Amino acid sequence: MNIATLSAKKFLIGILMICLYAVPVKAQSALAKRYPIIPYPSRLIPESGNFSINKKTSIVLQYGSYKQEAEILNGLIKKKGGFSLSYRQNASDNCILIKNDPSVRSKEGYHLVISPGKIILSASAAPGIFYGIETIRQLLPESFQENNGTGTLSLPAVDISDHPAFSWRGMHLDVARHFFSEAYLKKFIDRMATYKLNRLHLHLTDDQGWRIQIKKYPELTKQGAWRTFDHIDSTCMELSKENPDFKIDTSHIIHRDGKTLYGGYYTQEQMRDIIRYAAARHIQIIPEVDMPGHMMSAVRIFPYLSCTGKAGQGKLFSIPLCPCDESTFTFADNVYKEIFKLFPSKYVHIGGDEVDKSTWAKTPACNAVMRKEGLKDVNQLQSYFIKRMEKFFYANGKTLIGWDDILEGGMDSSATIMYWRNWVPNAPEEAAKEGSDVIMTPDSPLYFDAFPNKTTLSAVYHYNPIPVALRGTPLAQKIIGVQANVWTERIPSEKRADYMTMPRMTALAEVAWTDHPGDYQSYLERLRYQYPRWDMLHIHYRLPDLKGFTDNNVFTDSAVLTVQKPLADMVIHYTTDGTLPSASSAILPQSLTIKKTVNIKLAAFTPEGNRGDIYVLKYEKESYMSPATVNIDHMVQGLNCIYYKGSFKNTKQMTTVAAEQISVVNNIRVPESIKAPAFGLQYRGYISIPETGIYSFYLTSDDGSILRIGDKTVVDNDGLHSAQQRSGQIALQKGLYPFSLDFIEGGGGYKLRLQYGKQSEKARNIPDSLFLHKKHRDG
Ligand code: ACM
Repeated sequence: MNIATLSAKKFLIGILMICLYAVPVKAQSALAKRYPIIPYPSRLIPESGNFSINKKTSIVLQYGSYKQEAEILNGLIKKKGGFSLSYRQNASDNCILIKNDPSVRSKEGYHLVISPGKIILSASAAPGIFYGIETIRQLLPESFQENNGTGTLSLPAVDISDHPAFSWRGMHLDVARHFFSEAYLKKFIDRMATYKLNRLHLHLTDDQGWRIQIKKYPELTKQGAWRTFDHIDSTCMELSKENPDFKIDTSHIIHRDGKTLYGGYYTQEQMRDIIRYAAARHIQIIPEVDMPGHMMSAVRIFPYLSCTGKAGQGKLFSIPLCPCDESTFTFADNVYKEIFKLFPSKYVHIGGDEVDKSTWAKTPACNAVMRKEGLKDVNQLQSYFIKRMEKFFYANGKTLIGWDDILEGGMDSSATIMYWRNWVPNAPEEAAKEGSDVIMTPDSPLYFDAFPNKTTLSAVYHYNPIPVALRGTPLAQKIIGVQANVWTERIPSEKRADYMTMPRMTALAEVAWTDHPGDYQSYLERLRYQYPRWDMLHIHYRLPDLKGFTDNNVFTDSAVLTVQKPLADMVIHYTTDGTLPSASSAILPQSLTIKKTVNIKLAAFTPEGNRGDIYVLKYEKESYMSPATVNIDHMVQGLNCIYYKGSFKNTKQMTTVAAEQISVVNNIRVPESIKAPAFGLQYRGYISIPETGIYSFYLTSDDGSILRIGDKTVVDNDGLHSAQQRSGQIALQKGLYPFSLDFIEGGGGYKLRLQYGKQSEKARNIPDSLFLHKKHRDG
């Protein structure tokens, strides 16, 4: 649809935009181009025409309010257009009127009307005006050059009423495992603000480093902020052989007393500056000083803080603080006193996750405390510690947040719970029932340290923060928001942090802000327009996935590789000699004919030199497999499904235990009767191939899976991992073939999907009718 025709259809499309699902694809593309806003507003009515900001445009502030926000708008116009706007008292044409409107109910909500004559932005509070300006930022051309020096910045006419779905829209960043500069934090804050996120949770301390100055204990940063290279650094160094983004950032390396040390910290003055910078963008910094576990950087310096008087590693986690000695509370109170003073946010995060409590159980002082306090076990001892700290938080006007681990020994309702453990699915519901507020940050899909793949962006986008059991109930209100976490063991550089968070952060933003996200295609269309902006901001984002091939490809005579490029200005380079593709490798032609067995490595590059993921495509010459000599009359529909109970690291391990049960299933689905958190399944039978050809199979699983047809492994997606798709091909004649698919779930929720297509047709579901097994249970 041409934009010009929008005007005649604007009413209709306006209605349709409220229900995005109904917009025809072409119209949707045109609308996404005209209004490439992420997160999508709660209500957007397209209007015809444009407003042009030029040197004569003025800003009118009703009663002079919202000057700070207006200055942000003016700074934006200066950056994009090269000129600043003057302020005037009275509204007329060619002005941007910023005004108070008490009828806008949410403090973060706003009403933005852009018409050819003027812009009116209204809200009932500064955050709302700020978010209206962030919407304007996304509607402005990405650069002034785009206007060919006409001296104007054009904005599409529109009527937007907007407010967020959740009050907590967070990003977390672990600055302890690897350190990030103040400049990077500001860059991160800028992009959070663009996407209307409002909480930056900084994980400031952990075993590997203490990153915030505490004046009472200067050694915490003098010693605790620095380490010799450790195992997480070695992992990164190993990974950097294939990808330079894993190189340790040399700006955080120092040489002291003949040693090479990695680290860094923020002085309180530097942190104050970051807090101010964030506050001007309506983002609160939430500090986390993780205790009683994850405290090795402090225990190393003050070994008296642990029950053993030593620092070190326990069975799974480091030796924690000792909750049975008053000196621990003195230390914790002193640290938090400075944290409370420094960070203005109401919320302060105590961590409380992954505590190795074994040293507590063996300590006489702890046994005495447990007896005195009537505590049954060490989990209750952990609650005793957290509850005591919570009283201290409360007395200082702060609300304590803890990871959901703190629920284990019982908690009271005044703490806010941050949920992460997918494998404890009832925790949010239980916490809400107890009266706690809950912030949803489940490991999958909201741990952005998980390596992204073809399915991760969609998984984030489709995440619903309200647990099923609470939907439509009053307790849904206890879910105050949603956040993504970025643990940085394997993120040693800013480029890697960019790659891991972008574009996932924008999908999170749409979940957190937009009332009913749901139109993934519309989101993807709007996302396309963010990439050139990120190029200009030197954001090292993950490029969209390339399409048009499977991982393992076969051919009988020759194959043609045609890669579809998701962004027009990408260039795809490739190698066939095993080396990594670089911008100087050969350019992949539109169609590449392959006649012999070869491995192709390819990657897309942007004009800025940003490299996308490296794809390794195997091309194997093979002959058509011959079908099995079995009598179809002895077959019935469905597959045998053999169930193994237990936790397996790979599909092979299933065979080490006896099968629990055998049933028949119509297709590749996990039977509903299976409730165990960890299990294995083997699907056995035959697949009926309707016509001779080369077939592609696409196997998505969380955790591992492996598909075999005849004697060939077609897709190997084995091991413990989050949802990922692997694909492979096989040359098959018409007929019946032995079919076997093994699947394991290691805990934390599963996904299993098998699709197919002939050659490189679009992947589709396999009809039930193609799956068969022998009438007697011997297939
Ligand atoms: C966590 O991931 N340990 C909160």
